[in-house]
Parts: sequence; structure tokens; C-alpha cells
Amino acid sequence: MHPRELMNEFTPWVEKYRPKKLSEVMGQTETVRRLQAYVDSKAIPHMLFAGKPGTGKTTCVLAMARELYADNLQECFLELNASDERGIDIVRGKIKDFARTLPLTNVPFKIILLDEADSLTTDAQQALRRTMEKYSSNTRFCLSANYSSKILEPIQSRCAVFRFRPLSDDEILQIVKNVAEKEGITLDDAAAKAIAYVAEGDGRTAINVLQGASIGGKAIKEKDVLVVSSRARPQEIGE
Ligand SMILES: Nc1ncnc2c1ncn2[C@@H]1O[C@H](COP(=O)(O)OP(=O)(O)OP(=O)(O)O)[C@@H](O)[C@H]1O
Ligand SMILES: [Mg+2]
Repeated sequence: MHPRELMNEFTPWVEKYRPKKLSEVMGQTETVRRLQAYVDSKAIPHMLFAGKPGTGKTTCVLAMARELYADNLQECFLELNASDERGIDIVRGKIKDFARTLPLTNVPFKIILLDEADSLTTDAQQALRRTMEKYSSNTRFCLSANYSSKILEPIQSRCAVFRFRPLSDDEILQIVKNVAEKEGITLDDAAAKAIAYVAEGDGRTAINVLQGASIGGKAIKEKDVLVVSSRARPQEIGE
């Protein structure tokens, strides 16, 4: 089983309620539509997902991989964190091992998610560019980055680039209300507004604040939200 599939009662809500399918992803409509078309046709280019944290980048690539590989996720989908894996040599070694075998599925390629690709040095990105070319017959790379401007132009030009927008307050509220309902939590309007305010378009922050605010009880008020989030109330800003 893929590590991402393992959950228990301690799994944070952000993981527990991560959308499993592209159709469950909130917002990013045009991006999701194009990604769904890739999945349906089983034809996927290298991709660059750019945008602020908590907007659905990792969620979308995981959902694509799940839809494509089903029970073969473990063999066909590799996640590497560019900034964790000290040095491109380790990344390269892992990619080499992973890309050596072809998947035994009806999908003729594997997917590698390289998270935080914008933290790679220029040299590392040059090496990555060669690696992408070397394995492109049976591997597709999905790079995720907060800043696409930090990705070398020759890499960008090999990728379909998708820009993930900060989620709207309405989208944030839908995410939060969905989780609240499943956890048996109620929140009043002021609390919901406060979560949207502190989240600033970041779905991860919104769910984390909801989970934090629920520690004291299942009926959440604005003050419970403000205690767990470090930002001041809107009215206080001008004071
Ligand atoms: N568009 C969305 N629709 C529904 N839930 C979302 C969305 N975006 C984020 N979330 C929630 O926030 C969590 C984190 O999202 P995700 O891992 O996709 O962020 P990311 O864009 O990859 O951020 P980072 O840049 O920090 O890697 C998800 O598990 C999910 O619970
Ligand atoms: Mg991510």
C-alpha cells in the first residue's frame, strides 16, 4: 500500500479529507478540467504546478495518480521532495531506480512528483533537465513550486504549466463546512468568516485552524478560531 493511503485516528484532518478524485477538488476549475482530460486519455505531459501553499497542487497530482494506477499506485507513483533530499545526486539515484522498470499496467508511464522544485539550485535543475529527457519514454515528471519564476526556462518549456490560484473565501468555506459536517462540528457565521479570513486562500491552513479550534468542543465560535490563529481580527487591524 502506498504510504499516502495509510490513515488512522491520528491522521491530521488535512490528510484525512484530502480530495481523492479530481472531481472533488475545490476551485482551480480550468486546471482540473485539463488534468481530467489527460487522465481520461492516459496521455500526460511533464507538468509544472505553480502556486501558493495549500491550493491543491499535491492533491491534484495524487488524485491523477490514483485514477490512473488504482491498486498499482505504489509501483507507479514516486514522490520526492527536492528540498529534503539533500542534493540532486540522491534524487537522481532514486529516479533511476524507479524509472528502470516499466509499469505492468495499461498506462505506459510512471509519474514522479518532485515537490518544492523551486528550491533546487541552477546546477541541480540542469541535471534534472537531463534526467527528465533520459527517462521521458516511460516517466512523466510533475514539478511543484510556489514560484514558477525560479524554475529554469528550458524545464518550463518541457512542461505544461498550471497556475494554482489562492482559493476564494467561498471555496474555503465549502472545504471547511464539508470537514465540519463529517466531524460533527458546528460553527457559527462569524467563526466561518474568521477561518476564511485567516486562511488567505490556503485550504490547508483553513482545515488546520478548524481542527485546532475544535479541541475545546464541537460548537465553534469566532474566539475559538482567533485563539488558534495568530492573526488579528479584521477590525483590529486599523486600530
Ligand atoms: N483545491 C482544494 N480543494 C480541496 N481541498 C484542498 C484544496 N487545496 C488544498 N486543500 C486541502 O489542503 C490540503 C493541502 O493541499 P495540497 O497538499 O494540495 O497543497 P499544495 O498546493 O500542494 O501546497 P504546498 O505548496 O504547500 O505543497 C489538502 O490535503 C486538502 O485537505
Ligand atoms: Mg504540495
